[in-house]
Amino acid sequence: MARSSLKVLVTGAAGQIGYAIVPMIARGVMLGPDQPVILHLLDIEPAAEALNGVKMELIDAAFPLLKGVIATTDPIEACMGVNIAVMVGGFPRKEGMERKDVMSKNVSIYKAQASALEKHAAEDCKVGKPLNSPVLVIANPANTNALILKEFAPSIPEKNITCLTRLDHNRALGQISESLDVQVSDVKNVIIWGNHSSTQYPDVNHATVQTSSGEKPVRELVSDDKWLNAEFITTVQQRGAAIIKARKLSSALSAASAACDHIRDWVLGTPEGTWVSMGVYSDGSYGIQPGLVYSFPVTCKKGKWSIVQGLKIDEFSRAKMDTTAKELVEEKSLAYSCLN
Ligand code: NAD
Ligand code: LMR
Repeated sequence: MARSSLKVLVTGAAGQIGYAIVPMIARGVMLGPDQPVILHLLDIEPAAEALNGVKMELIDAAFPLLKGVIATTDPIEACMGVNIAVMVGGFPRKEGMERKDVMSKNVSIYKAQASALEKHAAEDCKVGKPLNSPVLVIANPANTNALILKEFAPSIPEKNITCLTRLDHNRALGQISESLDVQVSDVKNVIIWGNHSSTQYPDVNHATVQTSSGEKPVRELVSDDKWLNAEFITTVQQRGAAIIKARKLSSALSAASAACDHIRDWVLGTPEGTWVSMGVYSDGSYGIQPGLVYSFPVTCKKGKWSIVQGLKIDEFSRAKMDTTAKELVEEKSLAYSCLN
């Protein structure tokens, strides 16, 4: 029997990430090659014509899995009956800015869209069936926007609202792969702890590489501890800024690809023995206070994520995990002051 279509909302769909991600979704990169989709594209009035252009191109691409496209500037129409929400709408930072510098513009969008999503998304988006109905916030400051969305959409279960740190996770895999000259697909189990910001902590203490003589810890293969403890960390933390400096635009193809990885693994499950990083509502694991959206290592099964428990945390890691948590506490209070 043919599968029924899933309705996928993409906000900010006329923007850079929107333009990169919609063909990926329509080709099955996000939900698999057998899953038909209907795209709900939202943008704001000044971008309405460009949004319509995106819709025209989607039609022209004749994607077999794409069963319909709604392109609108009305958040209610956009959110109506959606099963999955990818929240990209917002303003990117420019060269020289930190991500929290776009706070005041972006958090109010997430407060407003929380109620549209809460009232009009599919029942399963609200009660968490059958796919756990993912909501992924990409727009910066991603963790704090996700937190605001969660707080202003109280009937959406907190487990359904996440933010994107998979891009940072993939960047960390990429750096290890480049440094050791191994396939990126052979590197796994890096962790991004904390905020999608320059305080994030990319941790390789549990990461491994598949070699011809079995799985080896990254710490054993990279002999240069100094590189792992300093330059590797700052390169990943600053990669977004480096892309902006080089392109004069923020990352888009890698962000769109990471967003597809995030939803795909959440919905279809992570491979055995592998975890990924997701910004999720803290339950107090690893001493991170509840009430923050913090990036943890997670595994996913049957549409549900769980934080990987029991990893040994050394003193160096503890300090870095606490620094990024502290920034999230500050961002949360800044966000509320912007909303008042
Ligand atoms: P962009 O400016 O190209 O596109 C953003 C789109 O959002 C625009 O079309 C704009 O009109 C639209 N928009 C603005 N307000 C809106 C609203 N209220 N409702 C719906 N749409 C609205 O930006 P981009 O490069 O696509 O980046 C989008 C966001 O994603 C930025 O905040 C950026 O910083 C962030 N980002 C996050 C990550 C991550 O890893 N979490 C990675 C890359 C970019
Ligand atoms: C990124 O990490 O590339 C994005 O968050 C964009 C940015 O502002 O760095």
